[in-house]
Amino acid sequence: MSSLPTLTPPSLGESVATDLSESLGAHRGAFAQCFGSAGGVRTFFSPGRVNLFGGHLDYNGGPVLPTAIDRGTFVAIRAREDGEVRMVSRFAEAEGRFKATELPVSPRGEWYDYPLGVLLALARLDESMAERMAGGFDVLFGGNLPVGAGLSSSASICVGTTFALDAVFGLGLDPVQRVEAALDAERSFVGVKCGIMDPYAVGFARPKHVLWLDCKDETFEHLPMDFDRVSIGVVDTGIQRRLARGEFNRRVTECAAAFDALRIYAPEARVLRDINRAVLSEHGYELDADLLRRATHVVEEVERTFVAREALLSGDLETLGRCMTETHASLRDRYDCSCEELDVLVHAATELGGALGARLTGAGFGGCAVMLIAAGDEQRVSEAVVGEYERRYGRRPPIAFFQGDEGPREIA
Ligand code: GLA
Repeated sequence: MSSLPTLTPPSLGESVATDLSESLGAHRGAFAQCFGSAGGVRTFFSPGRVNLFGGHLDYNGGPVLPTAIDRGTFVAIRAREDGEVRMVSRFAEAEGRFKATELPVSPRGEWYDYPLGVLLALARLDESMAERMAGGFDVLFGGNLPVGAGLSSSASICVGTTFALDAVFGLGLDPVQRVEAALDAERSFVGVKCGIMDPYAVGFARPKHVLWLDCKDETFEHLPMDFDRVSIGVVDTGIQRRLARGEFNRRVTECAAAFDALRIYAPEARVLRDINRAVLSEHGYELDADLLRRATHVVEEVERTFVAREALLSGDLETLGRCMTETHASLRDRYDCSCEELDVLVHAATELGGALGARLTGAGFGGCAVMLIAAGDEQRVSEAVVGEYERRYGRRPPIAFFQGDEGPREIA
Protein backbone atom coordinates (compact mmCIF):
# COMPACT_ATOMS: atom_id res chain seq x y z
CA MET A 1 0.00 0.00 0.00
CA SER A 2 1.52 3.36 -0.99
CA SER A 3 0.40 6.69 0.40
CA LEU A 4 -1.37 9.20 -1.79
CA PRO A 5 -0.73 12.94 -1.56
CA THR A 6 -3.32 14.49 0.77
CA LEU A 7 -5.56 16.86 -1.17
CA THR A 8 -7.05 20.13 0.06
CA PRO A 9 -10.70 19.51 0.97
CA PRO A 10 -13.09 20.57 -1.80
CA SER A 11 -14.53 24.07 -1.93
CA LEU A 12 -18.05 24.91 -3.03
CA GLY A 13 -16.80 27.33 -5.68
CA GLU A 14 -14.54 24.89 -7.52
CA SER A 15 -15.71 24.06 -10.98
CA VAL A 16 -16.30 20.33 -10.96
CA ALA A 17 -16.39 17.84 -13.81
CA THR A 18 -20.04 17.51 -14.78
CA ASP A 19 -19.40 13.97 -15.89
CA LEU A 20 -19.43 11.84 -12.75
CA SER A 21 -18.02 8.78 -14.47
CA GLU A 22 -14.94 10.85 -15.38
CA SER A 23 -14.49 11.92 -11.75
CA LEU A 24 -15.05 8.40 -10.45
CA GLY A 25 -12.62 7.11 -13.11
CA ALA A 26 -9.94 9.37 -11.64
CA HIS A 27 -10.90 8.17 -8.17
CA ARG A 28 -10.49 4.57 -9.31
CA GLY A 29 -7.01 5.53 -10.57
CA ALA A 30 -6.17 6.91 -7.12
CA PHE A 31 -7.41 3.65 -5.58
CA ALA A 32 -5.05 1.69 -7.85
CA GLN A 33 -2.16 3.95 -6.86
CA CYS A 34 -2.96 3.45 -3.19
CA PHE A 35 -3.85 -0.24 -3.09
CA GLY A 36 -1.75 -1.59 -5.97
CA SER A 37 -4.32 -2.25 -8.72
CA ALA A 38 -7.84 -1.34 -9.78
CA GLY A 39 -8.92 -4.91 -10.57
CA GLY A 40 -12.31 -5.72 -9.09
CA VAL A 41 -12.79 -2.28 -7.54
CA ARG A 42 -16.29 -0.78 -7.55
CA THR A 43 -17.07 2.94 -7.37
CA PHE A 44 -20.04 4.73 -5.82
CA PHE A 45 -21.32 8.28 -5.48
CA SER A 46 -23.33 9.53 -2.51
CA PRO A 47 -24.69 13.11 -2.61
CA GLY A 48 -24.78 15.90 -0.01
CA ARG A 49 -27.93 17.87 0.73
CA VAL A 50 -29.33 21.31 1.52
CA ASN A 51 -32.29 21.76 3.79
CA LEU A 52 -34.80 24.26 2.41
CA PHE A 53 -37.53 24.22 5.07
CA GLY A 54 -38.03 22.83 8.56
CA GLY A 55 -34.95 24.12 10.41
CA HIS A 56 -34.05 21.96 13.44
CA LEU A 57 -37.37 20.16 13.28
CA ASP A 58 -36.27 16.60 12.57
CA TYR A 59 -35.28 15.67 16.13
CA ASN A 60 -38.49 17.36 17.28
CA GLY A 61 -40.58 15.08 15.10
CA GLY A 62 -41.55 17.82 12.65
CA PRO A 63 -41.66 17.93 8.84
CA VAL A 64 -38.58 18.91 6.80
CA LEU A 65 -38.00 19.64 3.12
CA PRO A 66 -34.42 18.91 2.05
CA THR A 67 -33.03 18.19 -1.41
CA ALA A 68 -29.82 16.48 -2.52
CA ILE A 69 -27.08 18.30 -4.41
CA ASP A 70 -24.82 16.98 -7.13
CA ARG A 71 -21.74 17.24 -4.92
CA GLY A 72 -20.92 14.28 -2.80
CA THR A 73 -18.65 11.51 -1.58
CA PHE A 74 -16.77 9.14 -3.90
CA VAL A 75 -16.29 5.61 -2.60
CA ALA A 76 -13.94 3.10 -4.27
CA ILE A 77 -14.05 -0.29 -2.60
CA ARG A 78 -12.80 -3.85 -3.08
CA ALA A 79 -13.26 -6.91 -0.91
CA ARG A 80 -10.21 -8.65 0.58
CA GLU A 81 -9.85 -12.17 1.84
CA ASP A 82 -7.43 -11.83 4.73
CA GLY A 83 -9.72 -10.16 7.27
CA GLU A 84 -8.10 -6.69 7.02
CA VAL A 85 -10.10 -3.48 6.72
CA ARG A 86 -8.20 -0.49 5.35
CA MET A 87 -9.80 2.93 5.10
CA VAL A 88 -8.09 5.82 3.32
CA SER A 89 -9.28 9.35 2.55
CA ARG A 90 -7.97 11.72 -0.12
CA PHE A 91 -8.34 14.57 2.35
CA ALA A 92 -6.67 13.30 5.51
CA GLU A 93 -3.43 11.59 6.44
CA ALA A 94 -4.86 9.31 9.08
CA GLU A 95 -5.70 5.83 7.83
CA GLY A 96 -7.99 3.32 9.47
CA ARG A 97 -6.60 -0.24 9.71
CA PHE A 98 -8.50 -2.88 11.57
CA LYS A 99 -9.24 -6.57 11.74
CA ALA A 100 -12.76 -7.05 10.42
CA THR A 101 -13.57 -9.29 13.36
CA GLU A 102 -11.98 -7.03 16.02
CA LEU A 103 -13.28 -3.55 15.28
CA PRO A 104 -12.63 -0.83 17.87
CA VAL A 105 -15.66 -0.18 20.02
CA SER A 106 -15.02 3.48 20.76
CA PRO A 107 -14.43 6.34 18.33
CA ARG A 108 -10.88 7.46 17.52
CA GLY A 109 -11.67 11.11 16.85
CA GLU A 110 -10.69 10.60 13.20
CA TRP A 111 -12.59 10.99 9.94
CA TYR A 112 -12.90 7.19 9.65
CA ASP A 113 -15.11 7.05 12.74
CA TYR A 114 -17.99 7.54 10.26
CA PRO A 115 -17.42 4.47 8.06
CA LEU A 116 -16.27 2.52 11.10
CA GLY A 117 -19.51 3.45 12.85
CA VAL A 118 -21.38 2.09 9.82
CA LEU A 119 -19.62 -1.28 10.11
CA LEU A 120 -20.52 -1.49 13.77
CA ALA A 121 -24.12 -0.44 13.08
CA LEU A 122 -24.49 -3.16 10.46
CA ALA A 123 -23.08 -5.77 12.83
CA ARG A 124 -25.59 -4.62 15.48
CA LEU A 125 -28.40 -4.86 12.97
CA ASP A 126 -27.63 -8.47 12.17
CA GLU A 127 -24.68 -10.65 13.17
CA SER A 128 -24.66 -12.38 9.81
CA MET A 129 -23.65 -9.07 8.17
CA ALA A 130 -20.42 -9.00 10.17
CA GLU A 131 -19.78 -12.58 9.04
CA ARG A 132 -20.28 -11.66 5.41
CA MET A 133 -17.79 -8.82 5.71
CA ALA A 134 -15.28 -10.85 7.74
CA GLY A 135 -12.88 -11.09 4.77
CA GLY A 136 -12.33 -7.33 5.03
CA PHE A 137 -11.95 -4.71 2.30
CA ASP A 138 -9.96 -1.75 1.03
CA VAL A 139 -11.81 1.52 0.63
CA LEU A 140 -10.79 4.96 -0.62
CA PHE A 141 -13.00 7.99 0.05
CA GLY A 142 -12.88 11.28 -1.82
CA GLY A 143 -15.33 13.56 -3.56
CA ASN A 144 -16.33 17.13 -4.32
CA LEU A 145 -18.47 18.02 -1.30
CA PRO A 146 -17.18 20.64 1.15
CA VAL A 147 -16.73 19.08 4.59
CA GLY A 148 -18.28 20.56 7.72
CA ALA A 149 -20.10 23.30 5.77
CA GLY A 150 -23.69 22.31 6.55
CA LEU A 151 -24.08 20.21 3.38
CA SER A 152 -24.17 16.92 5.28
CA SER A 153 -20.82 15.47 4.39
CA SER A 154 -21.27 13.11 7.35
CA ALA A 155 -24.55 11.59 6.11
CA SER A 156 -23.07 11.49 2.61
CA ILE A 157 -20.12 9.34 3.74
CA CYS A 158 -22.24 7.17 6.06
CA VAL A 159 -24.98 6.46 3.52
CA GLY A 160 -22.36 6.01 0.79
CA THR A 161 -20.54 3.46 2.94
CA THR A 162 -23.70 1.52 3.76
CA PHE A 163 -24.74 1.53 0.13
CA ALA A 164 -21.31 0.35 -1.09
CA LEU A 165 -20.97 -2.38 1.55
CA ASP A 166 -24.47 -3.61 0.77
CA ALA A 167 -23.60 -3.86 -2.94
CA VAL A 168 -20.14 -5.42 -2.53
CA PHE A 169 -21.04 -7.96 0.16
CA GLY A 170 -24.64 -8.65 -0.92
CA LEU A 171 -25.99 -7.74 2.53
CA GLY A 172 -29.56 -7.54 1.23
CA LEU A 173 -30.43 -4.34 3.10
CA ASP A 174 -33.67 -2.62 2.22
CA PRO A 175 -33.43 1.14 1.52
CA VAL A 176 -34.72 2.09 4.99
CA GLN A 177 -32.18 -0.20 6.69
CA ARG A 178 -29.45 1.49 4.68
CA VAL A 179 -30.30 4.96 5.95
CA GLU A 180 -31.04 3.71 9.48
CA ALA A 181 -27.60 2.07 9.69
CA ALA A 182 -26.02 5.35 8.55
CA LEU A 183 -28.00 7.21 11.21
CA ASP A 184 -27.06 4.71 13.88
CA ALA A 185 -23.37 5.19 13.01
CA GLU A 186 -23.58 8.91 13.70
CA ARG A 187 -25.73 8.65 16.78
CA SER A 188 -24.30 5.62 18.54
CA PHE A 189 -20.67 5.78 17.51
CA VAL A 190 -19.71 9.31 16.46
CA GLY A 191 -21.90 10.76 19.20
CA VAL A 192 -24.10 13.36 17.46
CA LYS A 193 -27.72 13.39 18.56
CA CYS A 194 -28.79 14.10 14.97
CA GLY A 195 -32.30 13.68 13.67
CA ILE A 196 -33.27 11.53 10.72
CA MET A 197 -33.25 14.22 8.05
CA ASP A 198 -29.76 13.97 6.61
CA PRO A 199 -29.50 10.25 5.83
CA TYR A 200 -33.06 10.25 4.48
CA ALA A 201 -32.35 13.34 2.34
CA VAL A 202 -29.27 11.64 0.91
CA GLY A 203 -30.65 8.11 0.72
CA PHE A 204 -34.02 8.86 -0.86
CA ALA A 205 -33.17 11.82 -3.09
CA ARG A 206 -34.72 12.24 -6.50
CA PRO A 207 -33.57 14.69 -9.23
CA LYS A 208 -35.61 17.92 -9.52
CA HIS A 209 -37.55 17.07 -6.38
CA VAL A 210 -37.47 17.93 -2.71
CA LEU A 211 -38.19 15.34 -0.08
CA TRP A 212 -41.15 15.97 2.20
CA LEU A 213 -40.14 13.97 5.26
CA ASP A 214 -42.38 13.69 8.27
CA CYS A 215 -39.91 12.93 11.04
CA LYS A 216 -42.57 11.82 13.50
CA ASP A 217 -43.75 8.77 11.60
CA GLU A 218 -40.75 8.61 9.24
CA THR A 219 -42.88 8.74 6.10
CA PHE A 220 -41.87 10.70 3.04
CA GLU A 221 -42.94 11.75 -0.42
CA HIS A 222 -41.18 13.46 -3.29
CA LEU A 223 -42.50 16.90 -4.25
CA PRO A 224 -41.51 18.34 -7.63
CA MET A 225 -39.76 21.70 -7.74
CA ASP A 226 -40.10 23.75 -10.90
CA PHE A 227 -36.48 24.44 -11.76
CA ASP A 228 -37.53 26.31 -14.91
CA ARG A 229 -38.80 29.02 -12.57
CA VAL A 230 -36.46 28.81 -9.62
CA SER A 231 -32.83 28.09 -8.70
CA ILE A 232 -31.27 26.93 -5.47
CA GLY A 233 -28.06 28.79 -4.72
CA VAL A 234 -25.66 27.83 -1.95
CA VAL A 235 -22.97 30.16 -0.62
CA ASP A 236 -20.33 29.25 1.94
CA THR A 237 -19.29 31.64 4.74
CA GLY A 238 -16.09 29.63 5.11
CA ILE A 239 -16.68 29.80 8.86
CA GLN A 240 -15.85 26.39 10.32
CA ARG A 241 -18.52 25.12 12.65
CA ARG A 242 -16.09 24.36 15.49
CA LEU A 243 -18.51 24.44 18.38
CA ALA A 244 -21.35 23.07 16.35
CA ARG A 245 -21.44 19.54 17.70
CA GLY A 246 -21.66 20.57 21.35
CA GLU A 247 -24.13 23.38 20.61
CA PHE A 248 -26.20 21.11 18.40
CA ASN A 249 -26.45 18.44 21.08
CA ARG A 250 -27.41 21.17 23.56
CA ARG A 251 -30.32 22.29 21.34
CA VAL A 252 -31.54 18.69 21.21
CA THR A 253 -31.42 18.49 25.01
CA GLU A 254 -33.13 21.87 25.42
CA CYS A 255 -35.99 20.87 23.14
CA ALA A 256 -36.40 17.59 25.03
CA ALA A 257 -36.56 19.56 28.29
CA ALA A 258 -39.15 21.97 26.86
CA PHE A 259 -41.23 19.01 25.71
CA ASP A 260 -40.99 17.35 29.12
CA ALA A 261 -42.29 20.48 30.78
CA LEU A 262 -45.17 20.99 28.32
CA ARG A 263 -46.34 17.45 27.62
CA ILE A 264 -48.51 17.28 30.74
CA TYR A 265 -50.72 19.94 29.12
CA ALA A 266 -50.98 17.96 25.88
CA PRO A 267 -51.45 14.30 26.85
CA GLU A 268 -51.63 13.18 23.21
CA ALA A 269 -48.30 14.76 22.32
CA ARG A 270 -45.42 12.41 21.49
CA VAL A 271 -42.87 14.99 20.38
CA LEU A 272 -42.40 18.75 20.67
CA ARG A 273 -43.87 19.10 17.18
CA ASP A 274 -47.25 18.10 18.67
CA ILE A 275 -47.32 21.07 21.04
CA ASN A 276 -49.46 23.79 19.53
CA ARG A 277 -49.51 27.55 19.92
CA ALA A 278 -52.38 27.50 22.44
CA VAL A 279 -50.48 25.25 24.87
CA LEU A 280 -47.33 27.26 24.38
CA SER A 281 -48.98 30.63 25.01
CA GLU A 282 -50.83 29.34 28.07
CA HIS A 283 -47.96 27.46 29.73
CA GLY A 284 -44.80 28.77 28.06
CA TYR A 285 -44.14 31.06 31.04
CA GLU A 286 -43.21 27.95 33.04
CA LEU A 287 -40.15 27.42 30.83
CA ASP A 288 -36.94 29.31 31.35
CA ALA A 289 -36.33 32.05 28.79
CA ASP A 290 -34.02 30.04 26.50
CA LEU A 291 -36.26 26.97 26.47
CA LEU A 292 -39.25 29.18 25.64
CA ARG A 293 -37.40 30.69 22.69
CA ARG A 294 -36.40 27.23 21.40
CA ALA A 295 -39.95 25.89 21.77
CA THR A 296 -41.41 28.97 20.09
CA HIS A 297 -39.13 28.42 17.13
CA VAL A 298 -40.22 24.80 16.83
CA VAL A 299 -43.96 25.51 17.10
CA GLU A 300 -43.85 28.33 14.53
CA GLU A 301 -41.43 26.50 12.24
CA VAL A 302 -43.80 23.53 12.04
CA GLU A 303 -46.59 25.86 10.90
CA ARG A 304 -44.26 27.60 8.48
CA THR A 305 -43.11 24.33 6.93
CA PHE A 306 -46.73 23.39 6.17
CA VAL A 307 -47.22 26.82 4.56
CA ALA A 308 -44.06 26.24 2.52
CA ARG A 309 -45.36 22.86 1.39
CA GLU A 310 -48.59 24.42 0.09
CA ALA A 311 -46.65 27.22 -1.59
CA LEU A 312 -44.39 24.69 -3.28
CA LEU A 313 -47.33 22.64 -4.51
CA SER A 314 -49.17 25.67 -5.84
CA GLY A 315 -46.07 27.27 -7.36
CA ASP A 316 -46.30 30.35 -5.10
CA LEU A 317 -42.61 31.26 -5.12
CA GLU A 318 -43.04 34.54 -3.23
CA THR A 319 -44.53 32.78 -0.22
CA LEU A 320 -41.95 30.03 -0.46
CA GLY A 321 -39.14 32.57 -0.35
CA ARG A 322 -40.73 34.53 2.50
CA CYS A 323 -41.01 31.35 4.58
CA MET A 324 -37.32 30.69 4.02
CA THR A 325 -36.23 34.13 5.19
CA GLU A 326 -38.57 33.95 8.19
CA THR A 327 -36.99 30.63 9.12
CA HIS A 328 -33.60 32.29 9.11
CA ALA A 329 -34.79 35.09 11.41
CA SER A 330 -36.24 32.55 13.82
CA LEU A 331 -33.08 30.40 13.81
CA ARG A 332 -31.08 33.56 14.43
CA ASP A 333 -33.24 35.13 17.14
CA ARG A 334 -34.80 32.16 18.90
CA TYR A 335 -32.49 29.28 18.21
CA ASP A 336 -29.16 31.16 18.41
CA CYS A 337 -27.58 29.04 15.70
CA SER A 338 -26.67 31.70 13.16
CA CYS A 339 -23.54 33.85 13.06
CA GLU A 340 -22.83 37.33 11.74
CA GLU A 341 -21.44 36.09 8.43
CA LEU A 342 -24.56 34.01 7.73
CA ASP A 343 -26.76 36.99 8.58
CA VAL A 344 -24.76 39.17 6.19
CA LEU A 345 -25.21 36.63 3.37
CA VAL A 346 -28.95 36.29 3.96
CA HIS A 347 -29.38 40.06 4.07
CA ALA A 348 -27.28 40.57 0.93
CA ALA A 349 -29.16 37.86 -0.97
CA THR A 350 -32.65 39.07 -0.12
CA GLU A 351 -32.30 42.83 0.38
CA LEU A 352 -29.50 43.70 -2.03
CA GLY A 353 -29.74 40.92 -4.61
CA GLY A 354 -33.51 40.39 -4.71
CA ALA A 355 -33.46 36.65 -3.95
CA LEU A 356 -36.91 35.25 -3.13
CA GLY A 357 -35.59 34.00 0.22
CA ALA A 358 -32.50 32.81 2.04
CA ARG A 359 -31.51 31.05 5.25
CA LEU A 360 -28.71 29.17 6.92
CA THR A 361 -28.73 25.49 6.10
CA GLY A 362 -27.79 22.42 8.14
CA ALA A 363 -27.21 22.94 11.84
CA GLY A 364 -25.93 26.51 11.39
CA PHE A 365 -23.19 28.08 13.58
CA GLY A 366 -21.28 28.82 10.35
CA GLY A 367 -21.17 26.87 7.10
CA CYS A 368 -23.48 27.61 4.19
CA ALA A 369 -26.54 29.72 3.45
CA VAL A 370 -29.09 28.54 0.90
CA MET A 371 -30.95 30.93 -1.40
CA LEU A 372 -34.12 30.60 -3.43
CA ILE A 373 -33.74 32.63 -6.60
CA ALA A 374 -36.13 33.32 -9.45
CA ALA A 375 -34.73 31.77 -12.64
CA GLY A 376 -32.75 34.37 -14.54
CA ASP A 377 -31.76 36.33 -11.41
CA GLU A 378 -28.82 34.09 -10.45
CA GLN A 379 -26.16 36.45 -11.76
CA ARG A 380 -27.60 39.52 -10.04
CA VAL A 381 -27.99 37.74 -6.69
CA SER A 382 -24.48 36.22 -6.93
CA GLU A 383 -22.93 39.60 -7.61
CA ALA A 384 -24.76 41.22 -4.71
CA VAL A 385 -23.89 38.45 -2.27
CA VAL A 386 -20.25 38.05 -3.28
CA GLY A 387 -19.76 41.83 -3.50
CA GLU A 388 -21.21 42.54 -0.07
CA TYR A 389 -19.32 39.69 1.58
CA GLU A 390 -16.06 40.81 0.04
CA ARG A 391 -16.68 44.41 1.11
CA ARG A 392 -17.28 43.28 4.70
CA TYR A 393 -14.74 40.49 5.10
CA GLY A 394 -12.19 40.97 2.32
CA ARG A 395 -12.78 37.62 0.63
CA ARG A 396 -15.11 36.25 -1.98
CA PRO A 397 -17.36 33.46 -0.70
CA PRO A 398 -17.72 30.38 -2.93
CA ILE A 399 -21.15 30.00 -4.51
CA ALA A 400 -22.85 27.25 -6.53
CA PHE A 401 -26.30 26.39 -7.94
CA PHE A 402 -28.19 23.11 -7.68
CA GLN A 403 -31.30 21.41 -9.03
CA GLY A 404 -31.99 18.49 -6.71
CA ASP A 405 -29.89 15.40 -7.38
CA GLU A 406 -30.53 11.68 -7.04
CA GLY A 407 -29.48 9.39 -4.19
CA PRO A 408 -26.44 7.09 -3.84
CA ARG A 409 -25.54 4.99 -6.86
CA GLU A 410 -22.84 2.90 -8.43
CA ILE A 411 -20.95 4.70 -11.18
CA ALA A 412 -19.09 2.52 -13.64
C1 GLA B 1 -27.94 18.91 11.23
C2 GLA B 1 -28.47 17.57 11.74
C3 GLA B 1 -29.88 17.32 11.21
C4 GLA B 1 -30.80 18.52 11.45
C5 GLA B 1 -30.13 19.82 11.02
C6 GLA B 1 -30.92 21.04 11.44
O1 GLA B 1 -27.75 18.86 9.87
O2 GLA B 1 -27.62 16.53 11.35
O3 GLA B 1 -30.37 16.14 11.78
O4 GLA B 1 -31.17 18.55 12.81
O5 GLA B 1 -28.83 19.96 11.56
O6 GLA B 1 -32.12 21.15 10.74
